[in-house]
Amino acid sequence: MSEKIKVTIDNIEVEVDPGTTILQAARMIGGDVVPPAMCYYSKLKGSGGKCRTCLVKVAAGSAKDPRPMPKLVASCRTTVMDGMVVQNITSPEVIEARKGVVEFLLINHPLDCPVCDQAGECHLQDLSFDHGKDQSRYEFKRRTFEMVDIGDKIKLHMNRCILCYRCVFTADQITDQRVHGVLGRGDASEIGTYISKAIDNDFSGNVIDVCPVGALTDKTFRFKNRVWFTKPVDAHRDCDKCCGKVTLWYKGEDVIRVTGRKDQYGEVDEFICNTCRFDKKKTSDWEIEGPTKVDRHSVISSNHYDEKELLPVIDRKIL
Ligand code: SF4
Ligand code: FES
Repeated sequence: MSEKIKVTIDNIEVEVDPGTTILQAARMIGGDVVPPAMCYYSKLKGSGGKCRTCLVKVAAGSAKDPRPMPKLVASCRTTVMDGMVVQNITSPEVIEARKGVVEFLLINHPLDCPVCDQAGECHLQDLSFDHGKDQSRYEFKRRTFEMVDIGDKIKLHMNRCILCYRCVFTADQITDQRVHGVLGRGDASEIGTYISKAIDNDFSGNVIDVCPVGALTDKTFRFKNRVWFTKPVDAHRDCDKCCGKVTLWYKGEDVIRVTGRKDQYGEVDEFICNTCRFDKKKTSDWEIEGPTKVDRHSVISSNHYDEKELLPVIDRKIL
């Protein structure tokens, strides 16, 4: 086994394997030390390096060469060195730069959270809440696109896309045929299928789960409910295409949405197939495991979310 190396992030020391990125090391510490990440996705190879929200300051490069790095670096793309000293929330420079990144991400992104299905589980919404300014300085016309149906289950609302490439990597890495990608460059970049095509394969629905904003949404769930009025419940079934482990989102006694299970960073644990996602919306299709653990700080936990409180509701209504 290779020797561990030591890195200090916001004054907390952690030992990690060589080749670990600063972001992964911060996730091993957990809590506020972890930089936000809009394009990195732990389950997707090659993701990261697109959005710059994970910027950190390297105050000392390594024990051998303790000089600071001249510019802030993307923590998802920078590997740690032994003796490296990193600042995230302890650096006013990082906080200021992150505000700038959020302002950039919001240049074209519409502030339509009140009508967006992603509201309540949108990473950009959280980021804007923490670092956003109360108004934009941008005076030019925003990029606007017509909404597009890519298949009968997925809606693309390009106005909201932040070009993180997660959906492209997902389609590339977990499906046989990728039929969409980023077309055009610079200000003309957009997610598209070039010649109008449906994204149509057994795992296409996963692009909805990985999208950090409301650019790719589930047409079977659109406008059905605000996510914080739903009750998430973990369930599984025997599936010959995927792991069959999902979260069911209940409105009363009806399953109104099925998604992959997500970790504390909002990234799916395991990708699921379209049959589980779109065709199994009856409680009787599933073995119910119990309420999904939702971070108390999440808006999804507001109003009703307390395990003790929710369990009898599930016992009574679902099981
Ligand atoms: S559609 Fe969503 S997942 Fe795809 S690049 Fe845009 S923001 Fe990222
Ligand atoms: S998460 Fe690191 S650049 Fe996007």
